[in-house]
Amino acid sequence: MPDTPVTPGLPGGGGDPGGPLWAAASVPVGAAVDPDLLQRDEGYRATLLREFNAVTPENAMKWGPVHPTEHGWNLDPADQLVAFAEGHRMRVHGHTLVWHRQLPRWLDSGMPRHRAARVLATHIETLVGRYRGRLASWDVVNEAIADGGGLRATVFRRTYGDGYVAEAFRLAHAADPGARLYYNDYGAEGAGRKSDAVYALVRQLLDEGVPLHGVGLEMHLRAARPPEPAAIAANVARLLALGLEVRISEMDVRIRTARGGDPLALQRRVYRDAIAACMGMPGFIGVTFWGVSDRHSWIHTRFGEDRPLLFDRDYAPKPAYFGVRDALAAARRPRPV
Ligand code: G3I
Repeated sequence: MPDTPVTPGLPGGGGDPGGPLWAAASVPVGAAVDPDLLQRDEGYRATLLREFNAVTPENAMKWGPVHPTEHGWNLDPADQLVAFAEGHRMRVHGHTLVWHRQLPRWLDSGMPRHRAARVLATHIETLVGRYRGRLASWDVVNEAIADGGGLRATVFRRTYGDGYVAEAFRLAHAADPGARLYYNDYGAEGAGRKSDAVYALVRQLLDEGVPLHGVGLEMHLRAARPPEPAAIAANVARLLALGLEVRISEMDVRIRTARGGDPLALQRRVYRDAIAACMGMPGFIGVTFWGVSDRHSWIHTRFGEDRPLLFDRDYAPKPAYFGVRDALAAARRPRPV
């Protein structure tokens, strides 16, 4: 795919004729959003509104922040974000109902199964029910596969048993029958044990008649060692062949450890090739980036200062932005005759 020249200074300056990301794509293009930043960072808000047409709450709907005590809920940030999205006709992907991280202390790994069942049901019914008919989709279970394969040891598995995964989907489906329900995980993009384990899990869930509609591939990538585009395409194809949808759910590309050459050019290629590997496959239904600009990213605290996203700290588009836009747009272009 030919690269378009990098034209700095969107919007207005630079004569870039390409238009925003969302307009280039035939699928929704989203970003993980922090409702607090929407209030206090004008560049963040303006860039989000200009370039994206979908949002995922980065933290606001997670168990710890939203349900910090057994009978106490903190729904204001999530409500604000959903209202913001609705006001700007953006699609909302809920994230995430059942995950082993960001959990409140009151979730006790010693609780008996009947109590775990009640706790799980109350959490899912309350949260999914609150936004019934308003959210397009949910990450119902997040990262349940251990890195070495097999189900991860979590409070849910310990207290409820392995069936917690299926149960979570059934509860979510009952609470909002119209929402598309996802299993979401990292490190399962290309070929490998983790991808095989995710494939086996979702296949088994479908065999059991569990209301599962799709798989989210997170795509927290390292430019130094990206997955092979052909392996991504093959993995997505086998998931689609199960009748599932697939989305890229949390994409970012870290470049700190990239050696040799221009790291921003390499980042552009990694973004473009991974997205191009998926675009155009029927059932591949969207791309979400895990943040808006390099000014705010979880990567800095977890892996050290980096430049993982599509916009720089001043909200200027990076080479990666143009690579992504090319990949998104390519699937729309009619084939030459
Ligand atoms: O909100 C509190 C704040 O009150 C407190 O003062 C501050 C002090 O550290 O912490 C704040 O919470 C932090 C929160 O981000 C909001 O900034 C948490 O400590 C921190 O752990 C949390 O990190 C989030 C991380 O998930 C938790 O594991 C990241 O923002 C978020 O980007 C990241 O996202 C996950 C996806 O949900 C699932 N897939 C992997 C991805 C990256 O880890």
